[in-house]
Amino acid sequence: MPPTLSPAVDAAVLADRRDRFLHQLGGAAAVIPAAPLVTHHADVEHAFRQNSDFWYLTGFDEPGAVALFLPHRPETRFVLFVQPRDPEAEVWNGFRWGCEGAVERFGACVAHPLAELAERLPGYLEGAEGIAFRIGRHPEVEPLVLRAWARQLDRAPRSGHAALGLVAPCPILHRLRLCKTPEELERMREAGRISAEAHELARQVARPGLSERQVQAVIEQHFLEQGARGPAYGSIVAGGDNACILHYTANDALLRDGDLLLIDAGCSLADYYNGDITRTFPVNGRFSSEQRALYELVLAAQEAAVAAVCPDATAEQVHDTAVRVLVEGLLELGLLRGSVEEVIEQRAFRHLYMHRTGHWLGLDVHDVGAYRLGEHPVALQPGMVLTVEPGLYVSDRLPVPEGQPEIEERWKGIGIRIEDDVAVTDHGHENLTAAALKAPAALER
Ligand code: GLY
Ligand code: MN
Ligand code: MN
Repeated sequence: MPPTLSPAVDAAVLADRRDRFLHQLGGAAAVIPAAPLVTHHADVEHAFRQNSDFWYLTGFDEPGAVALFLPHRPETRFVLFVQPRDPEAEVWNGFRWGCEGAVERFGACVAHPLAELAERLPGYLEGAEGIAFRIGRHPEVEPLVLRAWARQLDRAPRSGHAALGLVAPCPILHRLRLCKTPEELERMREAGRISAEAHELARQVARPGLSERQVQAVIEQHFLEQGARGPAYGSIVAGGDNACILHYTANDALLRDGDLLLIDAGCSLADYYNGDITRTFPVNGRFSSEQRALYELVLAAQEAAVAAVCPDATAEQVHDTAVRVLVEGLLELGLLRGSVEEVIEQRAFRHLYMHRTGHWLGLDVHDVGAYRLGEHPVALQPGMVLTVEPGLYVSDRLPVPEGQPEIEERWKGIGIRIEDDVAVTDHGHENLTAAALKAPAALER
């Protein structure tokens, strides 16, 4: 293998994850496929992006692979099916580890060519009490799993056993992924560092007349220069009213004197850990009085919500904290009418703040893990990482809820969001993206 930026997750870290997963599977066998290559257009493919579940357990970064976890067969508890070495194919698409590499480098007990999956899968699943497989996501592998199970059921009267059910691996695996280990937190600090630096660079270059895309280029250049794979999601570089479109990624307008610029961008590291930061600042270096009033309000809501992140709090409480500060401020500014309780109860703020305040963050930007278990919101625990990202979006796209005031023109076209990545610690939280400045004085020049 030539020297490469490509990641090698520590073998002991991977083995420990697999042990914990195998232990929690009980007697069920898990089938976890890798991601396929995805067509961009014609016969051109997108850059490969591994399935995060598969990556978390294997550190193997190739398409066309399937991992089996077999607690009922301790000698072959971790089996990989992979694309075998093939000089012809590797001339076109690059190096493959093949079966030997899967064993020697990635710790598989045994590895086979992917083409043998259909033939070998029934044997490996024989004797498992259940089959853990995510239905509906893997159209190539799903029929093989169902066929193997059906065959077990057909034979059960004579063989004396068959898996009792098909179960979802997600509750086990995603509970593991939700709580980050110290090694993972270190990687998320790195994603936060690079992402925050990119935001600082973007603010330094932004000026009236530049295009949103030129600012995007500065951000993404920094990601690549720092060894990241690139953006973790489509970077949002939204001047003025474009910031009121939550998933704006066209980035094709010119920045205008007097507008704010909202940038929501974060990098994805070589080992897929992600940053997710939003900052909003005046293009010309000076807030107007309306912009400053709303900016200070979003900042107050964001800081209060970040402060609410601690063990045993919930993501719902973090959201509620932000909403309350926003509503109180909007009432004071005359953008809402009524009592705080009434407005919150009726969600009469939803034309100005229409999204939740955050999400789990990790190998996926909108990371896995439950927010609720039945009736109960999940309690925050040390190691969990979530974004805290309240905003205000003043436009006339959404109707003003009944009983609320019409919006004066002077407020329209102001879209603001402030987003940090926050890890829960033993006694509170750590802001992984604090290096991206957000105090109004730091944004003016
Ligand atoms: N950039 C995606 C998000 O903030 O959720
Ligand atoms: Mn974001
Ligand atoms: Mn986010």
